[in-house]
Amino acid sequence: MPNLKKMKAVVCTKYGPPEVLQIQEVEKPIPKDNEVLVKIYATTVSAADYRVRGFNFPASIRLPVRLLVGFKRPRKSVLGMELSGKIESIGKNVSSFKKGDQVFAASLQTFGAYAEYICLSEDGPIALKPTNITYEEAAAIPIGARTAYHHLKTIANVQPEQKVLIYGASGSVGTYAVQLAKYFGAEVTAVCSTANIEMVKALGADNVIDYTRPNYTE
Ligand SMILES: NC(=O)c1ccc[n+]([C@@H]2O[C@H](COP(=O)([O-])OP(=O)(O)OC[C@H]3O[C@@H](n4cnc5c(N)ncnc54)[C@H](OP(=O)(O)O)[C@@H]3O)[C@@H](O)[C@H]2O)c1
Repeated sequence: MPNLKKMKAVVCTKYGPPEVLQIQEVEKPIPKDNEVLVKIYATTVSAADYRVRGFNFPASIRLPVRLLVGFKRPRKSVLGMELSGKIESIGKNVSSFKKGDQVFAASLQTFGAYAEYICLSEDGPIALKPTNITYEEAAAIPIGARTAYHHLKTIANVQPEQKVLIYGASGSVGTYAVQLAKYFGAEVTAVCSTANIEMVKALGADNVIDYTRPNYTE
């Protein structure tokens, strides 16, 4: 008989290479009054996930990061910051979502998306999944797209015909940044490695610089 109070999750047992991640049984979360319980269908491996898992931080900030994130292993031992899935149940005060809704969300610093279930506040970064995209596509949106939008629009307020340089154009943030900067009417120069040049061009970049070439900054 399956234990309904338990779920499977990928637990980061200590800092180290990908092998430190192990599938274990953990407590299944119970939604608070303002939370939804999401059955997770897709998640991502973000730059934050692999940095925390491998404790891959510059030497100067390692001690403060250890104090913040955990000394021998991450205190939030189930990593994963982005997800999509279906709402399984809701807390008694939740009004924006109902059981069965397809959603995508960011769990951000609380991590927890490498699991079968997660509880999220209805007021957090969670929204209904557009019906014309898959769960896998939706899970890859929340952090990269939000970060790109925030920096291009809220901070830089990019205007038509401005020139924008996207450094890291083939990554999670960069692929959205290229498309959004084009959407805002900018002329986009993208920086990535040789293997990703065609993909970045296909996203709309006007010029592409290969950072693996000598003297590329010129
Ligand atoms: N503040 C925030 O809210 C926030 C949120 C998300 C991310 N971030 C930060 O933003 C950065 C990018 O995140 P991401 O998730 O997009 O990472 P990612 O998916 O791992 O993408 C990394 C990008 O950097 C490029 N790159 C790798 N090595 C490079 C080098 N030596 N020179 C130039 N470019 C290089 C990669 O190009 P190739 O793949 O072609 O090699 C790729 O385009 C990270 O530092 C991350 O921590 C911040």
